[in-house]
Amino acid sequence: MNLQGKNILGTQGLSKDQIYGVLEAAESFKEISTRKIKKVPTLRGRTIINLFLEPSTRTRTSFEIAGKRLSADVINISGSSSSIVKGENLIDTVRNLEAMKPDILVLRHSCSGAPHLISKWTNSSIINAGDGTHEHPTQAFLDLMTIKEHKQELEGLKVAIVGDIAHSRVARSNIYAMKTLGMDITLVGPPTMMPVDIEALDVKIVYDMEQAIRDVDVILMLRIQMERQNKLLLTSLREYSTLFGLNLEKLKKAKKDVLIIHPGPVNQGVELSPEVMESPHCLILDQVTNGVAVRMALMYLLLGGEDEALN
Ligand code: CP
Repeated sequence: MNLQGKNILGTQGLSKDQIYGVLEAAESFKEISTRKIKKVPTLRGRTIINLFLEPSTRTRTSFEIAGKRLSADVINISGSSSSIVKGENLIDTVRNLEAMKPDILVLRHSCSGAPHLISKWTNSSIINAGDGTHEHPTQAFLDLMTIKEHKQELEGLKVAIVGDIAHSRVARSNIYAMKTLGMDITLVGPPTMMPVDIEALDVKIVYDMEQAIRDVDVILMLRIQMERQNKLLLTSLREYSTLFGLNLEKLKKAKKDVLIIHPGPVNQGVELSPEVMESPHCLILDQVTNGVAVRMALMYLLLGGEDEALN
């Protein structure tokens, strides 16, 4: 499979074959990061611009590492170091970057739909690195890759997605992809943190966390996105943690081989207790490792792919 010339704006609308194609490519690319010399010439001469207009540690770093491991020229731009601080708008910014002929433009932006907007102004492929509360497709791919490594088959797995669903682009991208793959999804969280268009997502909703996690294979814990809440949706963090945080006591109610994932950054002691984070169930650092492989795979597939990619 190749995705040459396409954009990765979200997981909504991707086919089962496309999702598995990305996961298979990522599984191949993962080995490169275990080598002493972590570099292949696959994207030599290609240019990737990472335009991050919202804070990021994992996504920005792994896009940069992914591009460099494939020998691409990688340029990183943050909001505070760009002419956006002088008042330049997003479209003008992107048109000027486009004039320098990049091959891929990676965008993180606080506005839902920003990557879709700029895709109309560029010839380069756009990868959405997280847009507002809308989608974070590369996060969903790395989550699925991590689950698949432990469970082999994805179809039929039961997943509980817990927390601030309304503000979570991670939840949306995972819900779209997991439904396409035939996974069984239950959303868990306070009613104030459920999206208004919840019926459209066509998934189960439960407000009791212990009931929801009892027989699932995977628990996807979400970060509370305080920066996106324009009014407080919680009575207190302590109450949230009691009802929807995961500690060892609640974990005892789940299956013995349950997997716990979280996109990061974690509000430690709110969503996850430190003991749960250190437990063998918790795969957060595996997710981060897989993030590099997923982003290498997407860059490779968007730029056409070559048989000798791993040489
Ligand atoms: N998961 C994730 O997007 O983390 P960062 O915000 O650190 O990139």
